[in-house]
Amino acid sequence: MLIDTYGRVATDLRVSLTDKCNLRCTYCMPEEGLQWLSKSELLSDDEIVRLIRIAVTQLGITEIRFTGGEPLLRPGLVGIVERCAQLEPRPKMSLTTNGIGLKRTAAALKAAGLDRVNVSLDTLRPDVFKTLTRRDRHKDVLEGLEAARDAGLTPVKVNTVLMPGLNDDEAPDLLAWAVENDYELRFIEQMPLDAQHGWKRDGMITAGDILQSLRTRFELTEEGSGERGSAPAERWIVDGGPHRVGVIASVTRPFCSACDRTRLTADGQVRTCLFATEETDLRAALRANAEDSQDGSDEAIARIWKLAMWGKKAGSGLDDPTFLQPDRPMSAIGG
Ligand code: 5AD
Ligand code: SF4
Repeated sequence: MLIDTYGRVATDLRVSLTDKCNLRCTYCMPEEGLQWLSKSELLSDDEIVRLIRIAVTQLGITEIRFTGGEPLLRPGLVGIVERCAQLEPRPKMSLTTNGIGLKRTAAALKAAGLDRVNVSLDTLRPDVFKTLTRRDRHKDVLEGLEAARDAGLTPVKVNTVLMPGLNDDEAPDLLAWAVENDYELRFIEQMPLDAQHGWKRDGMITAGDILQSLRTRFELTEEGSGERGSAPAERWIVDGGPHRVGVIASVTRPFCSACDRTRLTADGQVRTCLFATEETDLRAALRANAEDSQDGSDEAIARIWKLAMWGKKAGSGLDDPTFLQPDRPMSAIGG
């Protein structure tokens, strides 16, 4: 299994399938986009499935989350999901997407074995969407959400980041909308993971701000404290239930001590944390296999992954005055 020196065990693997995206959310990417990974740098579908197989059959991974960039931009996505669904024990599989194109692919993804989706949506106002993401695609996202719900990719979770002066007045409206449409809303505190390094702690909307704003319209009851487990979202029951709202307070209430994640970038690097400054190269080991060397065996790859996990740091270091933002932005790490 994947265990670190603090006794944490990783069972949840996040796999970034591409660093590309069709939106340009201001908290993530600059207007002009980024220097994308080249085809030869990216893992192939076969390489991705092989690493997931090793993780599931040899390293105790039970949950796979596909992320990006925007994972729906990866042509082989449905096939990758299908092949991972054949693994024993069958992992739980979900997808974090901006929802564009989901209308077209939701049914195929469900049929391939995907269990759930998380869709990112920060606003109910098309004009604010355009300002925030620099693209006029609000309607596509709403349609994608409906298609996911109709295809049974449930519970459909909605991820929202509130940005000061843009959409920070929308929390209660978003919750009313989510309750009405049967989506589970989760607010995520903005983290210092933007390519432009524009994050400022001073300006950010905190979990406390969000709860205060929601309580102007809803009665929120905290779910039993034991129930957070390793799930980063703390959840509140809305107006007596059954709907719930989550807040992921990565900055103001970090959950590093209960973290159960390991991450794989689209170019085959293991990251033990979103905020890690070091990576471990699995792609080199994968490709060494081509030369028929022992270095590229499943066992060798599992060993490298375990060693990477053993080096996992205690926390994100966000509160440390010497904190350095990782070189890779969110879109190249995977959410
Ligand atoms: N801080 C918080 N959340 C972010 N996301 C992307 N960048 C950031 C950031 N800097 C969110 C996206 C998506 C998920 C993968 O992470 O909105 O929902
Ligand atoms: Fe794309 Fe997600 Fe980054 Fe927005 S946050 S630009 S949807 S990768």
